[in-house]
Amino acid sequence: LVDVAKIKYVSGDETLLDSIDRLWAGLNQQHLDSSPDFKLYYKALTFEKRKVVLLQKARTGALRVELAKDEQAGQYVGYCVSSIDANKVGGIESLFVEEPYRGFGIGDALIKSALIWMDEKGAETKMVSVAAGNEEAFRFYARYGFRPRRTVLEQIKNH
Ligand SMILES: CC(C)(COP(=O)(O)OP(=O)(O)OC[C@H]1O[C@@H](n2cnc3c(N)ncnc32)[C@H](O)[C@@H]1OP(=O)(O)O)[C@@H](O)C(=O)NCCC(=O)NCCS
Repeated sequence: LVDVAKIKYVSGDETLLDSIDRLWAGLNQQHLDSSPDFKLYYKALTFEKRKVVLLQKARTGALRVELAKDEQAGQYVGYCVSSIDANKVGGIESLFVEEPYRGFGIGDALIKSALIWMDEKGAETKMVSVAAGNEEAFRFYARYGFRPRRTVLEQIKNH
């Protein structure tokens, strides 16, 4: 059983990114499973490729990593990667809590810390992209005031 008192939080900049490797793979697998049209995209995506894009955002703005660690199990069980760009737009780039650890307020603690960081950085707008097929996440983000704003359509490769 999950003992919430044993969950410890740390946060920092992009130098913490390598700690999310395994968890990121779990999120990518979920996106792959739930995507109606972009399974090949998620299949081809690797953490190294995602990291290149995130490090680019760190260079042109700032990046933040929040980690939740189960001290008892000795492993990371959740993370949030967020960003702020040169136009003061804050973004939740990636957020994931391992399945057995969901529903205990870990996601809440991670996103709250990220949103406070964005405010400290002077964010004027905050955004999150939710993959098509993962609309379940809307319910979570709605608690923090995020609502669907627009739908971005992307052409499938070799359609
Ligand atoms: C979204 C997510 C990070 C929430 O983390 P969490 O630690 O379970 O969140 P909390 O315990 O703080 O809050 C849970 C609340 O979020 C909502 N919620 C939305 N989607 C949920 C889901 N798939 N599972 C559990 N709760 C969910 C519920 O309303 C729940 O509220 P309740 O406890 O009053 O019922 C986690 O469910 C997750 O990793 N999901 C898969 C990855 C994902 O979709 N990430 C977002 C990609 S943009």
